[in-house]
Amino acid sequence: MTVNVGWIGLGLIGKPMARRLVQAGYPVTVWNRTPAKAADLIREGARLAATPREAAAPADVLFTCVSDPPAVEAALWGDDGAMAGLRAGSVLVDSSTVAPALARREAAAAAARGVEFLEAPVTGGTWGAEKGELVFLVGGEAATLERVQPLLAHLGKKWFHLGPHGAGQTVKLAMNMLYALEVQGLAEALALVTGSGVPADKLLEVLASSMGRAPVLDIKAPMMTSRNFAPSFPLRLMHKDLGLALELANQLGIPLPATAAARETYSAVKGAAQEDVDYAAVMNFWRRP
Ligand SMILES: NC(=O)c1ccc[n+]([C@@H]2O[C@H](COP(=O)([O-])OP(=O)(O)OC[C@H]3O[C@@H](n4cnc5c(N)ncnc54)[C@H](OP(=O)(O)O)[C@@H]3O)[C@@H](O)[C@H]2O)c1
Repeated sequence: MTVNVGWIGLGLIGKPMARRLVQAGYPVTVWNRTPAKAADLIREGARLAATPREAAAPADVLFTCVSDPPAVEAALWGDDGAMAGLRAGSVLVDSSTVAPALARREAAAAAARGVEFLEAPVTGGTWGAEKGELVFLVGGEAATLERVQPLLAHLGKKWFHLGPHGAGQTVKLAMNMLYALEVQGLAEALALVTGSGVPADKLLEVLASSMGRAPVLDIKAPMMTSRNFAPSFPLRLMHKDLGLALELANQLGIPLPATAAARETYSAVKGAAQEDVDYAAVMNFWRRP
């Protein structure tokens, strides 16, 4: 049986994900706030919807992958929003990184329409999306995950079922806190080393043979030393995720002092940035005039 796919959000990571489903031969109806960004996918075989609701209407499975909570709210519940278009019996999968509370609200609204909901934020970067090697952090019913697994298999190499709605987003926020802190840690270490007159490469050389090594630093260190901050994971999205983690921690009464301090650093760089930059640009916090 043909599975009709709807896709909302053709950003840095959403677009390569949608493209893989088009390439796998699924009928895919896409909607993006800026329709021009869909042009190449349409040439490759996707169909363009005029509204989120129109993307949802034919979908057996609708994916959303947009930047932040307000974007999810606009796509689902705004004018001609997708929620009103979803058919009973279909599945909504949200791959955006948002607050766990919003994921639970999406689940409740979907259930009221007879629609199954899964939150499935991702990790693995834009390169992982291009190669179909993402990792999904899933919250929701195991049976719903089983229904969409054939689609996820085109997009990712692994999916973790982490618990009920909200659990996937919670783990995703915790993961991003860790990445943000690791990259800020490297930026601070580089500031100390280069400020002392020792070349950055010397630290990186030692790092490569030490316990301090981490895959995220292997990817970000060359961006930092070459000062190439073309966004793969934009700093504005990392800043959003640090804010969401702190909001959740605040609700739970859990102190996150390192994350709170890092958010200030990311805020300062975001405020000063003239363009969209990767979060590796957090090192600009230590840049001297
Ligand atoms: N990039 C990564 O490596 C990565 C990795 C893991 C997780 N994520 C998460 O995946 C999600 C998407 O990330 P991305 O990198 O694709 O972000 P992005 O490049 O900034 O794209 C954001 C998408 O959201 C849409 N959008 C923003 N505000 C909207 C609104 N008010 N109404 C409707 N659509 C709106 C944008 O539409 P326009 O095209 O019109 O602006 C675009 O399609 C985010 O939650 C991010 O945290 C990203």
